[in-house]
Amino acid sequence: MKMFLVKNYEELSRKAAGILAAQVISKPNSILGLATGSTPLGTYANLVEWCKNGDVDFSNVTTFNLDEYAGLSEENDQSYRYFMNTNLFDQINIDKAKTHVPNGKAADLTAEGLQYDQMIREHGGIDIQLLGIGHSGHIGFNEPDDVFVGSTHPVTLVEQTIQANARFFGSIDKVPTMAITMGMTSIMQAKKVLLIANGQDKKEIVEKAFYGPITPKVPASILQLHPDCTVICSW
Ligand code: GLP
Repeated sequence: MKMFLVKNYEELSRKAAGILAAQVISKPNSILGLATGSTPLGTYANLVEWCKNGDVDFSNVTTFNLDEYAGLSEENDQSYRYFMNTNLFDQINIDKAKTHVPNGKAADLTAEGLQYDQMIREHGGIDIQLLGIGHSGHIGFNEPDDVFVGSTHPVTLVEQTIQANARFFGSIDKVPTMAITMGMTSIMQAKKVLLIANGQDKKEIVEKAFYGPITPKVPASILQLHPDCTVICSW
C-alpha cells in the first residue's frame, strides 16, 4: 500500500486525477471503477478540464460505478447516475453507453447485482477502482457486517451513513434506507485501487482501516490485502 498525506483538497484532487488520467492515457480503452460522494468532485473537475484541453481522451473508456440508492430513478437529482452525468459524463467525451451505474430501480436488486458483476467480468474486470470512504468504514455502500460480501448486492444503510448523506437530501427522512453496491470481489479484483479521503473527520476511520485489524466491521480494511492500493489523504 502507498499512503500519501498531501497538504490540501486541491492537491489530493490533482494527484488522484493525475493517476486516473495516466491510466487512460496509457490504456485508452481502460475500464474505470468510479465513486460518488463529495470527495471525488475535485478529481472529476480536473479530469473535465484536462479532457476539454484535449489532454485526456475518454472516447474508448468504459466505467462501472460502485453504487446507487434503491428506488431512485436516474432523473432524480440525488441519484448517483444523475451525479455522475452532471459532474463527469456530460462534460467529457465519453460514450454514455459505456458508462454503467447499478440500477437502483430494478425490481430484484439481487438479480441486478449478479448481472452487474457478470458485465464487469465480461469486460475483463476493472483496471483502476476509485474509492471514497464513509465514516462507518464503508467503501461503496459496503457497510460494517459480520462477513465481507463478494457480489454486487442490496444493502441496508447504517444510521451513520444516513445521517452523513442527509446533507444532500435536505432532510434525513428523505434519505433512502437501502442501496445497491458493488461487493468486495469486483473491488478486490480491480488491478489497482485508489482511495481518497479528505477532512479531519475521516482521519480516525482511515487509520482504523489501514493500520487496524482486517475485519468486515471496518469494510475498507480489506484493502490492506490488495496488491496495488494507493491512499491519498488530506486532513
Ligand atoms: C457515500 C458513497 C461512498 C462514498 C462515501 C463518502 O455514501 N456511497 O461511495 O465514498 O459516502 O462520501 P463523502 O466523499 O461525501 O464523504
